[in-house]
Amino acid sequence: MKLLESKICLEGKVLSENVLKVDSFLNHQIDPALMNEIGKEFAARFSDEGITKIVTIESSGIAPAVMAGLHMNVPVVFARKRKSLTLIDDLLSATVHSFTKNETNEVSISKKYVCENDQVLIIDDFLANGQAALALVEMVEKANAKVAGIGIVIEKSFQDGAKKLKELGLRVESLARIASLSNGEVQFINETVKELV
Ligand code: G4P
Repeated sequence: MKLLESKICLEGKVLSENVLKVDSFLNHQIDPALMNEIGKEFAARFSDEGITKIVTIESSGIAPAVMAGLHMNVPVVFARKRKSLTLIDDLLSATVHSFTKNETNEVSISKKYVCENDQVLIIDDFLANGQAALALVEMVEKANAKVAGIGIVIEKSFQDGAKKLKELGLRVESLARIASLSNGEVQFINETVKELV
């Protein structure tokens, strides 16, 4: 998605060979107009999948997921990373190990909001090693719902998350695919955007 790639080139900061900082529009401050376009793009790409629900994980997955839900006219559920005072229903849970933070967390969704006949689109902001996405897949499958696809805003294609998900037969659509963050530069799988900036 050209608009997103241009935004990454203009505002993204390469912190290391593995980490891209995009706090100005996705991970801290949020650009609503860009999120709206992102939601529209996910809705277009998954229009043939009969999606009935979107599932994401707090916190940075919520903005793109809500915009996709608006354009697809379906509800959005986010997995919680912390126990909630009000989340007292039966829960679907999975563990997520974050390689970046080197910590393991249990994440959960209420059984009430993901049902047997749901066709679920999973959305997240980043795809790195795929731990968060795999945990979401596990919870959706525990509910006997179907994972119809996975929508990612920024895929770091040099890490193995996308490969793992595709090996499970899942459809992965990533709006920006980063081939490398070497030498302080963002290289996209599709190179053309570099000429725009
Ligand atoms: P994985 O889920 O794909 O295995 O990713 P990993 O454990 O490596 O990442 C843990 C957290 O760091 C996730 O967010 C993930 O989205 C984010 N992340 C991974 N790589 C990058 C990167 O290059 N840049 C940025 N900005 N984030 C990255 P989180 O801790 O759940 O944060 P949040 O959703 O609460 O913001």
